[in-house]
Amino acid sequence: MDLVVVAGSGNRTLAAAIASRLEVDVADTTIERFPDGECHVVVGGPVRGDDVYILQPTGPPVDEHLVELLLLADACRRGGAGRITLVIPYLGYARQDRRRAAGEPVAIRVVADLIGAVRADRVLTVDPHTVGLEASFGITLEAVSAVPLLASRLAPLLPPDAVVVAPDLGAVKLAERYAALLACPTAVARKHRLSGTSVRVEEVVGDVKDRTPVVVDDMITTGATICAAAEAVRSHGALPSLLVVATHGVFVGPAVQRLRELPVEHLLVSDSLPSDADVTLPIDVVSIDRLLADSIGRLHDDQPLADLEPFT
Ligand code: R5P
Repeated sequence: MDLVVVAGSGNRTLAAAIASRLEVDVADTTIERFPDGECHVVVGGPVRGDDVYILQPTGPPVDEHLVELLLLADACRRGGAGRITLVIPYLGYARQDRRRAAGEPVAIRVVADLIGAVRADRVLTVDPHTVGLEASFGITLEAVSAVPLLASRLAPLLPPDAVVVAPDLGAVKLAERYAALLACPTAVARKHRLSGTSVRVEEVVGDVKDRTPVVVDDMITTGATICAAAEAVRSHGALPSLLVVATHGVFVGPAVQRLRELPVEHLLVSDSLPSDADVTLPIDVVSIDRLLADSIGRLHDDQPLADLEPFT
């Protein structure tokens, strides 16, 4: 089977970088909107019998990118593709993985069912929001991590007094991974979410006094979590300036303004989502093109994905 890369509009730059590493062209694809807003896609060129990788993070506008991805997958399936892998570096709706209140759906399950309905064979993602995500999917979900890559970039920037801070209980395992790679202690902020854009930290566990906080998370959306954690550790005696690292920089609403108001020395994110890097932030965008190209290469060759991006 020939390897074919198809790109949605979610991150064409990353798709081109991955295709270039794999020494293939991105397939010709037309993606347009009909006057009534419907998405219309055409995958140009034959994919019959091919091993197709469709690159599409489902970041904002989440629903548009999701529908585009589903239509691209259906076009490839109906075009006779031999195998279809959806490469979704950032998977929207992954945070809605359970019902927190009566009347709510389990949104990620709905998304997983839609992906199953277009008969994709598997999904490849990066640092999913929860380790249990695969349970929502009826097809195989392969996950790789940008943490070793981000930690490598972070290491030379770290002061000796650094403490890795999990900004909520869900980030504890992530913080432990960074702390192990960087040989730092950890602390945890216990977060309570008040709404989609605001959170409150109720407690800090661990010694942050006179230390430089390195706040780590899987994603930054509105910046509320990072800000609340920064304020909380500061009020527990941490040094004012901080480092922030997250795999997915979603950056919506007040995120940039909030981060700009913090004494952030370094902000590291991957390019899982298109980088709209705000020059007023000390942001360093670390590309996951090699991580994903290597992953796709191994999947194409039916090889395992372990140890792709070692910490150096
Ligand atoms: C939540 O559980 C996630 O891990 C992130 O902490 C959250 O999505 C960040 O969102 P925001 O930046 O809006 O606080």
